[in-house]
This record gives sequence, structure tokens and C-alpha cells, in this order.
Amino acid sequence: MKRVDGRTALVTGAAEGLGKAIAARLVAEGAKVVITDRDAAAIERAQADLPGVTFRQVDMMDETALNETLSALIGEGFAFDILVNNAGGSLHTPRAFFEETEEDWARVMGLNVTAAVRTMRAVLPGMVDRRYGRVINLGSKAGRYGSLFTGCNYVAAKGAMQSMTLQLAQEFGPHGITCNAVCPGAIHTPRVLSLLNQRMSAQEQQAVIDSIPVRRAGRVEDVAAAVLFFAADEAGFLTGQLLDVNGGQGMAS
Ligand SMILES: NC(=O)c1ccc[n+]([C@@H]2O[C@H](COP(=O)([O-])OP(=O)(O)OC[C@H]3O[C@@H](n4cnc5c(N)ncnc54)[C@H](O)[C@@H]3O)[C@@H](O)[C@H]2O)c1
Repeated sequence: MKRVDGRTALVTGAAEGLGKAIAARLVAEGAKVVITDRDAAAIERAQADLPGVTFRQVDMMDETALNETLSALIGEGFAFDILVNNAGGSLHTPRAFFEETEEDWARVMGLNVTAAVRTMRAVLPGMVDRRYGRVINLGSKAGRYGSLFTGCNYVAAKGAMQSMTLQLAQEFGPHGITCNAVCPGAIHTPRVLSLLNQRMSAQEQQAVIDSIPVRRAGRVEDVAAAVLFFAADEAGFLTGQLLDVNGGQGMAS
């Protein structure tokens, strides 16, 4: 028996990176999957890798376009059982607090938090009606413990996602909906590697790996496995959990 057989999932910002791996794992475990992303070229590449997945090109920061996209999907009959609020990131804004502008804060909070709030406003009513839902938020090691290479805006945004997870778990538990967060450490996607290379020397990067109890960097598949764990039907008694996926780094640092 596949673990999310017959379920319908929405994974946001998922044509590349962690979201794409999450979507691929959900598909492999039997789900019908919809991906949103703003990048047409990335969507085209992902379409080749993920046949059968539905893609919608939308900028998650554009309120009108996002609301229209989500209501069109629901109008077309997509009844989402699983929502993965994956769209997010530090958007390469500065690490130093004094260098982060108002606009940097607005963009980072807008993508990581406000876009997820808007998505949940659109998707949760259907879950309530059907008395079933699995909401999985992407937190971060940064939001749990602070960060070595991203700034206060991103740490605060991920902290908001994590605390929202606790509140939503309480509010929507009586409706058959669980809400949990997966909090990855640095996962070595090409984008993260380029950011690390800009901000840390090779020796500093090696020192970080050496401080991780399992002595390796994270992989997208590590995060996908954790999301699947919360997405499965059998995880119905687990809610309001913030799951670290960092090889023990949070505990050690
Ligand atoms: N990569 C990591 O090491 C790491 C660690 C902890 C948490 N996270 C979190 O995991 C999630 C995914 O991270 P990632 O590194 O895979 O992301 P990413 O930056 O690689 O982006 C993934 C996708 O999001 C899309 N996207 C970006 N802005 C968008 C927008 N405004 N509208 C629609 N789509 C948009 C991009 O086009 C891309 O295809 C984020 O919430 C991130 O904060 C990542």
C-alpha cells in the first residue's frame, strides 16, 4: 500500500529544490500532485521529470494572481488533502541586520509567511468540509536556532511559520486536520551551495560539516521523507510538531 494513495497534494514553489523532491516523493507514494512556481523555464524542466503532475505558473507574492490560481484549481475540482507550504527562502538578502532594508524584510516575510497564509485561507475551507487535511510547513534550522549564513528577516519568517504551525494544529485539529513543520538544516541544492560559496570559505564549510553528528550535508530526499511522514494517513495523531531534519546539527551547535 502506498502511503498517500489517492490523496491530492499542493506543493508551492516546487519546480526546483526541496519542493520538487517533495512532489516527486508524494507522486511515488500515490498522490495526485499540483505544483505552483513562478519560473516558466523551471516548470518546463520539472514537467519532463514529473509526468502527470499539474503545474501552475504564478508568483506567490502576487496576491491577486495567487488567489485566482488557487480558486481556479479548486473550481476545476482539485480537492486538496495535503498542502505543503514550501515556497520560501532568504531571497539572498543580506545576513547583517543593519544591511537588511525594509524591502528585504517585506519580500522575505511576504514569500515565507504571507503567501502561505493566503494559500491556507484558500485551501483549508475544503479540508474542513471534508474533515481531512495534512498541512506541512517548511520551517528551518534557522528559525529554530538562528543561522550561520542567512539573516534576521529569514530567521524571523521561519520562526513565524513554526509558531503558526502550533496555532493551526490547535485550531484545526477538531476538523480532522493536522499541521506540522519540517525544519531542515542546510540542504546542498545548487542554489544553497552558491550562497554558501559566497558567504563562507571552503574551510568554514568543512568545519560546519565536521560539526554535524552524521558528518554530511542534507539532501533534498531527507526533507522529502520527513514531509511524507507527516503527509501520510497514518500520521493522524501527530500534530503541532516541529521536526528537525539536520543530521543532529541543531543539537550539537
Ligand atoms: N535549501 C535549504 O537548505 C533549506 C533549508 C531550510 C529550509 N528551507 C526552506 O525550504 C523551502 C524550499 O527551499 P529551496 O531551497 O528548495 O527553495 P529555492 O529558492 O530553491 O526555490 C524553489 C522554487 O521556488 C520558486 N519560487 C521562488 N520564489 C517564488 C515566488 N515568488 N512564487 C512562486 N515560486 C517561487 C523558484 O522558482 C524555485 O523553483 C523554503 O521554504 C526554504 O526556506 C530550505
